[in-house]
Amino acid sequence: MSITVGIAGITGRFARELTSILLKNPNVTIKGYCRDPSKVPQSFSNVSLVKGDAYDEPAIQSFVTGCDVVVCCYLGDPKLMVEGQKLLIDACAAQGVPRYVASDWCVDYTKLKLGQLFPKDPMIHIKAYLDAQDKVKGVHILVGMFTNGFFGAHFGIYDAVTTTFKYWGTGNEIWEGTTYRNAAEYTAAVCLDKDAVGILKLVGGRSTIHEIATSFERVYGVKPNVECQGSLDDLFKLMNEQREKDPKDLFSYMFLLFHYYMINGTTEIGPQYDNDKYPQVKPVTWEDYLRNVSQDQLPNAMSVVGQNV
Ligand SMILES: NC(=O)c1ccc[n+]([C@@H]2O[C@H](COP(=O)([O-])OP(=O)(O)OC[C@H]3O[C@@H](n4cnc5c(N)ncnc54)[C@H](OP(=O)(O)O)[C@@H]3O)[C@@H](O)[C@H]2O)c1
Repeated sequence: MSITVGIAGITGRFARELTSILLKNPNVTIKGYCRDPSKVPQSFSNVSLVKGDAYDEPAIQSFVTGCDVVVCCYLGDPKLMVEGQKLLIDACAAQGVPRYVASDWCVDYTKLKLGQLFPKDPMIHIKAYLDAQDKVKGVHILVGMFTNGFFGAHFGIYDAVTTTFKYWGTGNEIWEGTTYRNAAEYTAAVCLDKDAVGILKLVGGRSTIHEIATSFERVYGVKPNVECQGSLDDLFKLMNEQREKDPKDLFSYMFLLFHYYMINGTTEIGPQYDNDKYPQVKPVTWEDYLRNVSQDQLPNAMSVVGQNV
């Protein structure tokens, strides 16, 4: 069975991982869409590229033409994530592309109200837009957080200097995580599965912070400190205080919001997942991930995603 996959935002981290996996399959033809083809890795020479920005309708129509599925890998401002995706979806409808994989790969945003975890608002809008389509079926892949980003200083949980995990709540809350590569393996399998539509829950691992700390010790032979920073209510209060202090300073509170909505259960994907639909993909657990990254690389692991393709 041969299939043509269109990948919008092919220069990005996730798109590079996905493209490199799909290129190994001789039955797959890939079309890529980007604004700067010079950023596309040389190893992607078999990808047929269409150049254009997110609002260039003729270029988008040309890009989606002939695709069996279009995967959107954009990441950017709300206008890109809503209007940019709507243009891709409209082009899919016009050109007879039956499936559109939304730029999701995240927590379960379907249980959030608009405004609660604002970076996920565009996904709520795009899911509603796809649900209302009759020609194009939407695909939404939920993976939890990208494990690669969890240990970065920006997320505020792992302090590499003091080897400390700093958590909120009881410490028994579940963290759902999937590596970029593993999420790309599942997405490649979904692209090849013509019947795959709607929400797919494809998660590498689920662990509490204490279990992650135990895995850390087992893998690196170093016992990390594990420190509670306060209750869930304390976290809620802090994130709102920070937001009210300077709403424009997104980075002072955005990760606190993610932390809060991930561990208070609102955005939990499981405990039931769809991994069994794709037994050819092995889920990469939190401990599997740690076994493949050195302790030194852990805080900056995001910087290498998509670089070795
Ligand atoms: N669950 C998680 O923890 C998590 C974390 C991160 C990302 N994600 C998800 O993963 C997906 C991809 O993220 P990523 O990390 O691969 O992002 P990324 O590396 O930043 O790539 C973003 C892509 O979007 C393109 N883009 C940005 N602004 C654009 C614009 N105005 N017009 C056209 N293209 C534009 C970029 O093109 P240029 O190269 O030209 O800039 C690039 O190809 C997104 O769905 C995101 O929500 C999930």
